[in-house]
Amino acid sequence: MDRTKEMIKKLALSALLATGLAGGAHAAGEVHQEIEDYDFSFEGPFGSYDQAQLQRGLQIYTQVCSGCHGLQYVPLRALGDESGPGYSDAEVRAYAQQNYEVFDEDLDDYRPATPTDTFPANDAVGAPDLSLMAKARAGFHGPYGTGINQLVKGMGGPEYIASLLTGYTGEQMEQAGTILYENTAFPGGWISMAPPLYGEDVSYSEGQPEPTLEQEAQDVAAFLMWTAEPKMMARKQAGLTGVVFLTLLSVLLYLTNKRIWKPVKRKADEA
Ligand code: HEC
Repeated sequence: MDRTKEMIKKLALSALLATGLAGGAHAAGEVHQEIEDYDFSFEGPFGSYDQAQLQRGLQIYTQVCSGCHGLQYVPLRALGDESGPGYSDAEVRAYAQQNYEVFDEDLDDYRPATPTDTFPANDAVGAPDLSLMAKARAGFHGPYGTGINQLVKGMGGPEYIASLLTGYTGEQMEQAGTILYENTAFPGGWISMAPPLYGEDVSYSEGQPEPTLEQEAQDVAAFLMWTAEPKMMARKQAGLTGVVFLTLLSVLLYLTNKRIWKPVKRKADEA
């Protein structure tokens, strides 16, 4: 009897040990990222971009991010899209002309950008292009990349970008001649991008919210979601139209089916 008790004790102990060890190994292999679940206006089946927010985000991009990053897949004329920032043709032309120069092969020289150009690329400091970043980083979510958070909470690239911009701890270190900044959202915890935003980095026009760090981060994250998916509203609308159409079709088919089988059913009832 005693021997069995002892064996059970031993087994329980080793089981405990094994799970403990496994847990430790798990924790070591896991990249801990802190991603905030922001409520963006474009989330959900009826969500849409907030035009004023996209305009503020464009301002942040232009005045801060474009110093290092490019948006080489985004046509400038898209700034006139109604479901996007919604600027007038004249405003788009003025924005392109005032902010960017492009190399024209015909002229063999630089000239001011026009709405038919894209935002320029920028690889001065090796910063990645931001055109599709919000989609490229949609996959951070969930434990072990399972995508659970995106599915359940609608968390994705914009949450990651806003968390990245607000996730600096203030710690920094030098590694092989590069300065790395501690960031709680960046995988691995150390990023080579110096904190680009502190709050009050730009001044927003009358009637807009205060440019706090949180506000600026969310505005530019929303803008980058738009650059990555400018047709999101059209996609959602098409989806909705599809659902309505299929529902109607189901009802009609149900009624047709009843009607077709009616004589047969009556016969069966009479028999
Ligand atoms: C001084 C130059 C500089 C400025 C200004 C700057 N960045 Fe960066 N950014 C970088 C560099 C360099 C990297 C690459 C960092 C790395 O991989 O360690 C980077 C990386 C990123 C990434 C990708 C992170 C990832 O997951 O790989 C995002 C998103 C980003 N920047 C957004 C922004 C936004 C938004 C702004 C404007 C508010 C901005 N950056 C301003 C230099 C800059």
